[in-house]
Amino acid sequence: MYLHSMLIALLLAPRILADPYAQYILTPASRTVYPASVYNVNGTVENAVGLVGARGSASFRGPSAVTYDFGKNIAGIVSFDFNASASASDQFIGISFTESSLWINAEGCDAMADAGIDAPLWFPATGQGRAQASKEHQRGGFRYLNVYHNASGETSVSNLSIHFTALPQKTEADLQEYTGYFHTNDEQLNRVWYAGAYTNELCTIDPTAGNSLIYLGTITSNDTETTPLPWYLNYTIATGKSVLVDGAKRDRLVWPGDMSIATPSIFVSTNELSTIRDSLDSLLRLQNSSTGALPYAGVPFSEVLPIFSFTYHLYSLIGIYDYYLYSGNLSYVSSNWEKFKFGLNYSTSFIDASGMANVTTSADWLRFGMGGHNIEANAILFYTLNLGTTLAGVLNDTTVGAWSKYATEIKTAANARLWDPSANLYRDNDTRPLTQLHPQDGNAWAVLSNLTTSPAQNVNITTALASRWGKYGAPAPEAGTTVSPFISSFEIQAHYIAGQPSNAIRLMKFMWGNFMLDDPRMTNSTFIEGYSTNGDLHYAPYLNDPRISHAHGWATGPTSALTFYAAGLQVTSEAGKTWKIAPQLGGLKFAEAGFQTSLGNFSSNVTAMDDGGVSVMFETPVGTSGSVVFQHEATQGGQAIVTTAGGQPRLVKRTLIQRGGPGFAAVHDLPGGKYEAKLLLA
Ligand SMILES: *[C@@H]1O[C@H](CO)[C@@H](O)[C@H](O)[C@H]1NC(C)=O
Ligand SMILES: *[C@@H]1O[C@H](CO)[C@@H](O)[C@H](O)[C@H]1NC(C)=O
Ligand SMILES: *[C@@H]1O[C@H](CO)[C@@H](O)[C@H](O)[C@H]1NC(C)=O
Ligand SMILES: *[C@@H]1O[C@H](CO)[C@@H](O)[C@H](O)[C@H]1NC(C)=O
Ligand SMILES: *[C@@H]1O[C@H](CO)[C@@H](O)[C@H](O)[C@H]1NC(C)=O
Ligand SMILES: *[C@@H]1O[C@H](CO)[C@@H](O)[C@H](O)[C@H]1NC(C)=O
Ligand SMILES: *[C@@H]1O[C@H](CO)[C@@H](O)[C@H](O)[C@H]1NC(C)=O
Ligand SMILES: *[C@@H]1O[C@H](CO)[C@@H](O)[C@H](O)[C@H]1NC(C)=O
Ligand SMILES: *[C@@H]1O[C@H](CO)[C@@H](O)[C@H](O)[C@H]1NC(C)=O
Ligand SMILES: *[C@@H]1O[C@H](CO)[C@@H](O)[C@H](O)[C@H]1NC(C)=O
Ligand SMILES: *[C@@H]1O[C@H](CO)[C@@H](O)[C@H](O)[C@H]1NC(C)=O
Ligand SMILES: *[C@@H]1O[C@H](CO)[C@@H](O)[C@H](O)[C@H]1NC(C)=O
Repeated sequence: MYLHSMLIALLLAPRILADPYAQYILTPASRTVYPASVYNVNGTVENAVGLVGARGSASFRGPSAVTYDFGKNIAGIVSFDFNASASASDQFIGISFTESSLWINAEGCDAMADAGIDAPLWFPATGQGRAQASKEHQRGGFRYLNVYHNASGETSVSNLSIHFTALPQKTEADLQEYTGYFHTNDEQLNRVWYAGAYTNELCTIDPTAGNSLIYLGTITSNDTETTPLPWYLNYTIATGKSVLVDGAKRDRLVWPGDMSIATPSIFVSTNELSTIRDSLDSLLRLQNSSTGALPYAGVPFSEVLPIFSFTYHLYSLIGIYDYYLYSGNLSYVSSNWEKFKFGLNYSTSFIDASGMANVTTSADWLRFGMGGHNIEANAILFYTLNLGTTLAGVLNDTTVGAWSKYATEIKTAANARLWDPSANLYRDNDTRPLTQLHPQDGNAWAVLSNLTTSPAQNVNITTALASRWGKYGAPAPEAGTTVSPFISSFEIQAHYIAGQPSNAIRLMKFMWGNFMLDDPRMTNSTFIEGYSTNGDLHYAPYLNDPRISHAHGWATGPTSALTFYAAGLQVTSEAGKTWKIAPQLGGLKFAEAGFQTSLGNFSSNVTAMDDGGVSVMFETPVGTSGSVVFQHEATQGGQAIVTTAGGQPRLVKRTLIQRGGPGFAAVHDLPGGKYEAKLLLA
């Protein structure tokens, strides 16, 4: 009887896709987090290890300090109990935080402003009691925590813990709940996928705990400040329960460019789409009512520095499309359609007689030389015009036919004026004398927006990009001696779209795996926003190295790319009403992925076969439809076959592959269900 009712309860419960690889999840299981180990002790501290896992107490005698390591980047409000020896008066305990071990110091934290360091939090600790940081002194990202004792006398500290403040929309029991998973034979890539997911979780914050940016525009000097700067996080930057910001430590602001990489990676891992919607709304609300311009960033940045960025304006429009694609929420698009049209028509007003937009404001992702007929800006405009045409089709709006004409003209003009066949790359712009700078951003965007004119050109571009890689990553020469995990996230997509998956795998392994995860200066859990081509943790646009964010959503491109391209699991229209299974293993032995949308669960399980063929087991919801697409060497013939899976296999469809054909084989019009598809090469 009891078993029977349990079974019914199980059957009635909504089917959620439990993560079969939950051991890789980095999200804390509990909101109360304790230090994982002692990193360093200075001065006289008895039983420093007592604060690891709340085992006991540590006693600080005279000026002394301990650095604790949480083993990964975390976020939250610190608290502890203290007990000063009866004879000691004027006792204080100071606490400071750093993401990287590089910035551990005796004076304070790493930094949020572009000069100096952030002040420690000092708590009076005479007698006995409990100390807790205020809400505005939650720290958004840190792996290391320093405990300082600055007086003579002795104070013992116990129960040092962090109340984890990221993911405010979740109950404690749900913290580790993922709706998606990924697994492959390469352990480093498994860690990269889950670190990307976790990076976006640390960037999901309480909307009332945004950065107040008290020093924005006031600190510009190079000088290391002698007095650490006060800081607090109490600006309301959005409505709703949670907001997606660029970085966990800073800026803690909504930036639409950053969202363009973070959103797809959130979709495939935790599907927290209401966070995305509330973040996007905070930007759309700021649309200029006379021009249609959308802000460079949300409040308070947009209030202090009301800057227009040609590309970031477009990223907000792309955000509307992405939110619709993943959620299927058509009423959101309908209710924002006038804003979308107003915004996109503002962008097309920059198109001149050349057919391309002439960019007149320099603000972008902190690259240099953004202006004129810039290839990145025009590729993003081309891409957004095509998304706009798709959305207009969904909404039956026939008034925007000019968008596809503009798109065609941009493509023609960019290829005529910006393509440099001697480099197999696009130039940054056509300003005379012609620049020899071939940017990473514009070339990656040209491939992924399909601004290019042939598959061979895509291969040439991605080959040329890969030939420039240095020891620590793919360079972005348009930003100085910079490696940008943001722009490299677009480059990964370009390699897959060009049918060069082994380039994508190599880039993710040496840049994200070897360096961004495994270098000892990193957090081993979240991804940094930018660094130097020589491996220094210096980011060209910033004067102050401790300012660099080590948890930036724009660096999480591998998470969505591994799901969409390696495991080949893609949605092609709202919430996966149509889908595409297009695996490209690129040397991996197998890759498995799953995710959930409002229409149900999607999963794929790809295995390389010994003879060079591929097998994929996949499942998509009833009521949907889609295609299977296999890439292969054009010199090979063979067939792609799809059979039902589960029960007696039955042949559903077969496509023959001609030797010397286009290099991919597709099987179309498959109704949602459970299948096995195979690429069999002759
Ligand atoms: C504080 O420390 C004193 C001396 O070690 C000890 O007797 C007392 O029990 C402690 N108080 C608390 C609340 O732990
Ligand atoms: C401990 O001392 C070392 C060497 O002087 C210093 O580099 C480090 O910043 C100190 N750590 C703390 C937390 O004070
Ligand atoms: C310890 O730090 C606190 C807070 O900055 C300060 O008020 C106090 O004077 C310092 N004590 C000593 C002995 O330096
Ligand atoms: C900051 O310091 C660097 C290196 O010392 C120097 O090249 C640069 O000109 C300085 N910038 C400012 C604004 O002082
Ligand atoms: C934020 O906190 C600071 C320091 O406590 C305070 O001065 C300021 O008024 C607060 N700002 C807001 C918007 O609450
Ligand atoms: C064209 O590109 C070069 C290289 O990035 C840059 O120095 C120059 O400023 C750009 N021209 C304009 C008008 O922005
Ligand atoms: C772009 O517009 C600016 C400002 O109107 C103008 O100075 C510049 O010559 C234009 N660039 C091109 C390539 O037409
Ligand atoms: C667009 O038109 C089609 C065909 O008439 C209709 O089924 C669909 O509901 C319309 N869509 C919207 C958003 O009005
Ligand atoms: C890319 O553009 C070409 C025309 O240049 C077109 O034939 C092709 O279908 C487009 N590819 C995609 C994926 O849209
Ligand atoms: C690709 O590069 C090769 C070698 O430089 C060249 O021969 C070929 O014409 C290029 N193809 C395209 C479409 O750019
Ligand atoms: C990095 O984290 C992984 C777990 O994600 C752990 O297995 C590994 O030991 C850590 N590496 C270092 C150097 O701490
Ligand atoms: C994928 O297939 C492999 C081999 O058949 C199997 O071991 C694994 O459990 C499958 N993964 C999932 C998530 O079903």
